[in-house]
Parts: sequence; C-alpha cells; structure tokens
Amino acid sequence: MLHDDRAALRSEAAARLGAGGFLAPDEEAAELLAAAGGDGARLEALVARRLTGEPLAWITGSTTFCGLRVLVDPGVYVPRPHTEALALRAAERLPADGAAVDVCSGSGAIAAVLRARRPQARVIAADIDERSVDCARRNGVDAVQGDLLAAVPAALRGVVDVITAVVPYVPAHELRYLQRDTFTFESTLAYDGGRDGARLLRRLVRESTRFVRPGGVLLLELGGDQAQVLAPVLAAAGYGTPRVLADEDGDVRGVEARR
Ligand SMILES: C[S@@+](CC[C@H](N)C(=O)[O-])C[C@H]1O[C@@H](n2cnc3c(N)ncnc32)[C@H](O)[C@@H]1O
Repeated sequence: MLHDDRAALRSEAAARLGAGGFLAPDEEAAELLAAAGGDGARLEALVARRLTGEPLAWITGSTTFCGLRVLVDPGVYVPRPHTEALALRAAERLPADGAAVDVCSGSGAIAAVLRARRPQARVIAADIDERSVDCARRNGVDAVQGDLLAAVPAALRGVVDVITAVVPYVPAHELRYLQRDTFTFESTLAYDGGRDGARLLRRLVRESTRFVRPGGVLLLELGGDQAQVLAPVLAAAGYGTPRVLADEDGDVRGVEARR
C-alpha cells in the first residue's frame, strides 16, 4: 500500500474517532491502522468497534505498560498508566534473586515488569478469573488461579520480598460513575470493592502476613480515603507506618507498608 493511502486512511479514521469524542484520535487511528494491517475495510470494522466504546487494547490485542508490550485478551482488565509507578516501585524493592507475588494480576502486566527487570527473581501472579490467568501466561508470566493468595505455592510462605496488588477497590455505589468503556465492557469483578471499596484490601492485608517475610513490603493500589481506612488494619497485621503514594496531581494512588 502506498504511503499516501495509509495517511488518508489514518486521517479519515482519526476524524471519525475525533467526532466520536475520543481524546487521542490520531494515536488511536494509528494503532487501529496497524492492527488492520493497512487494510481499509478491516480498519473500518475496527473503528466501528471502537466507536461503541470497546477498549482499544481489546481491539488491537495489546497495550504498552512500563515500555513493555502486554497482550490483553477481550474480557481482561486493561492495565492503566496510573499503575506503572507502583510496578516500577515494586521492581526497585525486589532483590535480584528475590520473590514477588502480584495479586489480582489481570493480564499479568505488573508481574511482566517485575520479570523483565529482575529476571532471576521468582515472580508469581494470581487472579481468580480464568481468562486473566490465561492472558498472563501468554505474557510469559507464571500465573495461578485462585482467590487472592489461595493458589500461591506454600513454598513461598514467609519468604516473599514484595507483594503487589491492584485489587478491585471501587466502592459499590461509585461503580456507576466509571467511564463509559469501563462501565459497558469491563467486568465489575475487576472493580467492585464492596461497600467502602476496601473489602478485598482488608482481606489481603490480613492474608499477606503468611507470605511476606519480615522486612518485606506490601504495595497496594487504592484511592480516596482508603489509605486511612487501611492504616489500622496494616498496624494490626504487623506492618510499620504505611507510606501514602500520590501521583503528580497529588491524588492518592496507593500505599507501601513494610513488615
Ligand atoms: C483492577 S484489575 C487489576 C489487574 C492488574 N493488576 C492490572 O493492574 O492491570 C483487578 C483484578 O482482580 C481480579 N480479582 C477480583 N477478585 C479477585 C479475588 N478475590 N482474588 C483474585 N483476583 C481477583 C480480577 O479478575 C481482575 O483481573
């Protein structure tokens, strides 16, 4: 296909996406054109899917996370840019020959970053959802299926240096305020954190003590006032004063606690 044809297809797709209210129409058009292999009819079909609000990563089959290409199968939570800082922090905390568990791992994006940055370390991902576990394995991650830490090998008890988790933490009454793509396509299994959003966070803090070694760290994504809600739970589980992690806008994005 001639360069000019591709440019015309791309700009036509970008115009349709822009008119549909998408915020990065040029970038999305480029990704969809690549996924369509430059074929106009196929591009047309992919743009039509995107205009329904279907997540871009489900249509193209992948996204970028911490510079890595991560496969994302339809139905699997799409890793978000705001989680990258947590993954990079976890990699810093993980010794070269250490052990890490990523709980509620979805596509395995965080575990994939840990593997890439600490290739000698033992990294296990765990998710309750079969599609997510399959997807994580396709991303080269050692993934197990189960509720929180239930399926993590017993050999890791008491020796884990880092546990990361992006559990579902949206308060049930706020689920309806999620973005259209999320609300329409993604499963509430990935979001619903119960009445105050902290139901699974509390459980994980308590259950984590079986695996995190003394001196090891727990890195949790959360939001709103959940860092305060969790502080007494962390203290009761034997963790030191948690460090609250905020993004560049000052919004609370997580906590780090050392055992
Ligand atoms: C918000 S997504 C995070 C996925 C991934 N960590 C990421 O950041 O891209 C939450 C994930 O938790 C999983 N999940 C929900 N309840 C769970 C449970 N009780 N035990 C394990 N995984 C669970 C969902 O299947 C989903 O993949």
